[in-house]
Amino acid sequence: MTTEISDAGPSDDGEPTRRDFIHIFAAATAAVGAGATIWPLVHQMNPDASVLALSTSEVDLSSVSVGQAIKVMWQGKPVFIRRRTEAEIAEGAATSLGALKDDAARNDNLSGKADATDDARVTSRDGKARPEWLIVVGICTHLGCIPLGTSSGENRGDYNGWFCPCHGSHYDIAGRIRKGPAPENLEIPPYEYLSDTVVKIG
Ligand code: FES
Repeated sequence: MTTEISDAGPSDDGEPTRRDFIHIFAAATAAVGAGATIWPLVHQMNPDASVLALSTSEVDLSSVSVGQAIKVMWQGKPVFIRRRTEAEIAEGAATSLGALKDDAARNDNLSGKADATDDARVTSRDGKARPEWLIVVGICTHLGCIPLGTSSGENRGDYNGWFCPCHGSHYDIAGRIRKGPAPENLEIPPYEYLSDTVVKIG
C-alpha cells in the first residue's frame, strides 16, 4: 500500500511553490508521524518562522512503506525521505563515479571529502549506511527550486529520482545530479537514528 501524505506539484504557471508542500515539523522532543491523518491539520497551521527555525526535526518512519517518499520540514527547508526498494538500492549502487556530474558525497554526516557512492549518500552521523533510507534536502542545487518526484505520479526524471522542472535538472535514486544545469548533488542533511524507526534531522 502506498500512503501519500502530500501532493507537491507545480503551480498553475508551472513553477513549484513552497505552499505545495507538506509542512511536517515538531518540537525537538516530539516525534512527528508520517501518517496521512495529520495532513489536514498541519496544512492549516501555517507554521511561523519560530517553528520553522527549530534546529532539529524528529520523524517517525514507521508508516513509510517501501517505495514511498515523504517530505518533512527541517529549519524551514523541505527534506525528502525515500524508502528505497531493493531494485532502487541496486540501481544506486551500480552507478559508477565516472557517470556522475558531481562525484562528491555532499553528506553533512561525513567529515572530509567523500566520493558520492551510494553508501556515502545514505550514511548517518554514526557512520552507518542504511541503504533503504535516502534523506536529502529537497532544494535544487541550481537556483533553489523544489524538485518533483516525491509524491505519487510526479515526474521523477530520467534517473528515477527527482526532477526539477524549473530548468530541467534530473537527480538519480541517490539524489545525485545526472543531467541539467544543477551543479551539485542534493545535500544530505545531518541526521541520526534514535531508533530503527525514528530519525532526528539536525
Ligand atoms: S532551479 Fe532546478 S534546474 Fe534550475
